[in-house]
Amino acid sequence: MDKLSIVSCKKYVQIKKEKLKEQIALLDNKPCLCVVQIGNNAASNSYIKGKKKDCEEIGIEFLHCHIEDYTAYSEERVMDIIKDLDDNRAVNGIIIQLPIPDKYNVENLQKCISPGKDVDGFRSDSNFLPCTPKGIIDWLDFNGYDVSGKDVVVIGRSKIVGKPLINMLIDRGATVTCCNSKTLYLDHFTQFADLIISAIGKPKYFSDQSFNFPDIVVDVGINRDKDGKLCGDVDRESVERIFEDTYVTPVPGGVGLLTRVSLLENVVNAAIGLH
Ligand code: GUN
Repeated sequence: MDKLSIVSCKKYVQIKKEKLKEQIALLDNKPCLCVVQIGNNAASNSYIKGKKKDCEEIGIEFLHCHIEDYTAYSEERVMDIIKDLDDNRAVNGIIIQLPIPDKYNVENLQKCISPGKDVDGFRSDSNFLPCTPKGIIDWLDFNGYDVSGKDVVVIGRSKIVGKPLINMLIDRGATVTCCNSKTLYLDHFTQFADLIISAIGKPKYFSDQSFNFPDIVVDVGINRDKDGKLCGDVDRESVERIFEDTYVTPVPGGVGLLTRVSLLENVVNAAIGLH
């Protein structure tokens, strides 16, 4: 693996967006994504703003169904709203922005989105892959990084990142070790890995001491350091200083971008009927 030839997440996303834009321009109707937001979570507001900007940039219609004051909205009432959106032929993809208030059961709401419109890929029978694992695998594929025969360590076992990722890597012939924050001697596993994918959620938890000449480190973490600055799970500078040939994805500007572009691709595929 030649580090210098790796296409960064940022560049890859630019290329991908151009391709999607061309695909959309050929369609009779613009694809349409609807984001359902309940309440007024500050982080959600910012994520939704980003999704809207992404959609508008490439020609996807963006609907924001915002139930800001939800006091009068029972779970049944919200379910009816989502079912109506699901029945609407003009809406191609629906996501329920998380987190949602405690009074609702997330799975009950997600069940109202049919598998062909579940562009978050959260349902077990969804037509789509979850956006973060899909983004990571597509980026590795684009770079010609074949995981077959590689030792891969995934740190994290969540339903929407770790678990689907592990399955996708196994399907591609990688030797996969699944660790988590409770794993004793985590370094024992990461020391032998060619590819490390971390979603441990601890600021700069891994440093050069944790690795031994890996090819790539994919940092899924979105954390704040002591000064409140956004950072990943990996101390990127120390790793790239010691292992000159190792590529570490940056935070911000790495996996977050890959996740966002996967959502756009899922929406376009939902509109085309390609899953
Ligand atoms: N909240 C934070 N990230 C996400 C995401 O990818 N999808 C949804 N639905 N909610 C989120």
